[in-house]
Amino acid sequence: MNYRGQNARRINPSARRPAVAPGGVIRFAAGLYLAQTQPGLEGVAWSEIAFRCGASGAARELARRTIGDRAGATIFHAERIDSLRALRSVEDLFALVGYRRFAPANPAAPARPGAALERVRAAVHGARHIDEALETRARFTPGGRAGRRIQFRVVARMAGDHEFRRVDFRRAVENAMVERGDHVWRLADDEAGADVEFWATMLPGEFLLALRLSDERMRHREYKAAHLPGSLRPAVAAAMAWLSEPAEHDVTLDPFCGAGTVLVERAHLGRYAKLIGGDSDPAALAAARENIGPRHQPLELHEWNATALPLARACVTKVVTNLPWGRRHGSHEENLALYPRALAELRRVAAPGATFVILTADSRLMDQAIRRERMRPERIFRVAILGAPATIYVMRNS
Ligand SMILES: C[S@@+](CC[C@H](N)C(=O)[O-])C[C@H]1O[C@@H](n2cnc3c(N)ncnc32)[C@H](O)[C@@H]1O
Repeated sequence: MNYRGQNARRINPSARRPAVAPGGVIRFAAGLYLAQTQPGLEGVAWSEIAFRCGASGAARELARRTIGDRAGATIFHAERIDSLRALRSVEDLFALVGYRRFAPANPAAPARPGAALERVRAAVHGARHIDEALETRARFTPGGRAGRRIQFRVVARMAGDHEFRRVDFRRAVENAMVERGDHVWRLADDEAGADVEFWATMLPGEFLLALRLSDERMRHREYKAAHLPGSLRPAVAAAMAWLSEPAEHDVTLDPFCGAGTVLVERAHLGRYAKLIGGDSDPAALAAARENIGPRHQPLELHEWNATALPLARACVTKVVTNLPWGRRHGSHEENLALYPRALAELRRVAAPGATFVILTADSRLMDQAIRRERMRPERIFRVAILGAPATIYVMRNS
């Protein structure tokens, strides 16, 4: 019997229509890192990494991988990673400490889970760069402990067909870690007790062992005090703001701002002329006010209907927004009228050449609205947000 990765049965939009060429050969060496984001946004994450590494040393991307429908990764080499603490489009950063290629499981052949797990165990024993990674981690996330005795935990992920279950895969990695002689490795009782986390990933034909360098602060932002259902993952909002190519003169508008995530993330990516946000729901606006706080100015927040904005013609240069998907917010029927009206209104308030970065799960409706406006997307990203297929359109106002 073959076991499939936990999420393998769900549709993976980025595997079906990749926004970037996936794959790439991993030649395992010291100084390899893995940055994780939502599937489909690996290329955006890499673009931010390359930009931030620019000042402190060269970085080179080797490969991209999609791990089920919950994670995408860019794998890269970097001399130094200090500047990557500022990353915003990445949810977690890891050092790659072990890597092995295997022949993919053959569904026609009798399964030999013991032999397959033995290969995993050997790969963990042979993981060569754990000490360098522990040192990097201590520098990257102050407070990280790395003595001789180390309590660890293993997060195990599988995508594709495999001869073993995920729980057995995790146990094989845990046991192999304890058997290593380089430190006194103790399995932590719980997440809080772990000094370090190893993320073990089994893909078709590939095993990756990575040490987590970042902690939850990279993924969850301290500003998100007020949280609304349907609120965007901060790293996705940051990736969208990054795609708008932030510039000093930006007047950036989010007409469906919800809890304000896009606006805060844009503010963190550099100077701007003004941020403008609005929402039809007063509770969402209150959450946005709380999350944005007094820090990011100049800022305008309005209660409004995005199909009739109280804004002058051609006054904004960037529109970055997450439309109502018709699930938590509104319905498909409401979106039939909303999407074309909102897009026409956004074109009115946007200056010629203004950039639009728009996320929606209803790509059929959005495609129709775009055709009606005779717009042509410059880039389309098929992504998965917490497993839900969605699309990001990048367009310019004519
Ligand atoms: C997908 S959510 C946006 C989430 C937001 N990006 C965040 O991170 O919180 C869509 C938002 O659009 C708002 N909305 C729905 N119809 C609207 C309309 N006609 N005009 C303005 N806002 C609207 C909803 O209240 C909701 O807050």
